[in-house]
Amino acid sequence: MLLVFLYHILKLMETVVSGIRPTGNLHLGNYFGALKNFINMQNEHHCYFFIADYHSLTTHPTPQDLHGNVKQVLVEYLAAGLDPEKATLYIQSDVPETAELYLFLNMNAYIGELERCTSFKDKIRQQPQNVNAGLLTYPTLMAADIIIHRATKVPVGKDQEQHLEMTRQFSNRFNRMYNVEYFPEPQAFNFGQNLVKIPGLNGTGKMGKSEGEGNAIFLADEPEAIRKKVMKAVTDGGPTVPNQEKPEVIQNIFQLMSVVSSKETYDYFDEMYNTCQIRYGDMKKQLAVDMIQFTEPFREKIKELLSDEAYISKVARMGKEKAQESAAKTIREVREIIGFKSF
Ligand code: TYM
Repeated sequence: MLLVFLYHILKLMETVVSGIRPTGNLHLGNYFGALKNFINMQNEHHCYFFIADYHSLTTHPTPQDLHGNVKQVLVEYLAAGLDPEKATLYIQSDVPETAELYLFLNMNAYIGELERCTSFKDKIRQQPQNVNAGLLTYPTLMAADIIIHRATKVPVGKDQEQHLEMTRQFSNRFNRMYNVEYFPEPQAFNFGQNLVKIPGLNGTGKMGKSEGEGNAIFLADEPEAIRKKVMKAVTDGGPTVPNQEKPEVIQNIFQLMSVVSSKETYDYFDEMYNTCQIRYGDMKKQLAVDMIQFTEPFREKIKELLSDEAYISKVARMGKEKAQESAAKTIREVREIIGFKSF
């Protein structure tokens, strides 16, 4: 009886997929936009969290870019609290079935829609010397990652919203094309409220690995590095009238404070701002202290895990096996739907 009950519960659990590119160490944007949700979801969902090393080839094509970074991200997944017994943690290139589904999806993805994708437009501006086909078809590879496990929920930051829209488009198109109801419609997900965008420290835009020196606070950063970066954060001359609207650069500092500091701290500096008494130097000092404290458990755990090669390999092997099993089933069924026959 209990086993039957457990079987039904397991069947009802939704499937979750998400990934992070190994193009550098993980920062607070990755943590609050993605990783924090991964950890919260692992108990009540079928979770697949991977390291998107195929995707990173669109911008970082050499072995030096991959080795080290893939391991680092896996270590950071574990250090942040992902449990390989609960969630399937794997490396994207360990599951080449994804590449086959990517190929199938590309047959029904149109140049026009791919060219209109904001991330493609951004990338061709950033690397005009390397506008490769992988950049153009980035959203179909991402759709393949998600629907290879037929996931319904995808924990990501705000910047991935359009990719999720395209995933639903490709999923629905496949179903219509082959007259099946095979792939679900995956939704971008964030616990509680809207998708988040954590700002960087250099005044504009989001925190990112490649948004310029000093823009991101990494989970593995040493306290002194954090202090230096925070103290250099862009501010302005200060408010001149009470309750003045905060300009973007100041709003960014407050947003960062809202995720790492206590409510009392946030309210104190908000009050200081609204009464034109704020001293940004003091605010940044406090923000640095809170960021150092927030990242401390990650920093320690990352160091510890980095030296445990055997455990890291074991986690990667376990994940590969579980992810392959799920992906192979989908590919078998997709091949059948499309009409491939083995003779
Ligand atoms: P990537 O590697 O750029 O970022 C990984 C995750 O971190 C989130 N993120 C942020 N969230 C809030 N504020 C920020 N400043 C910030 N910076 C990054 C991203 O939204 C993302 O959730 N295309 C993906 C990787 C990917 C993927 C997938 C994700 C490949 N296949 C399938 C989900 C499902 C990317 O480049 O993420």
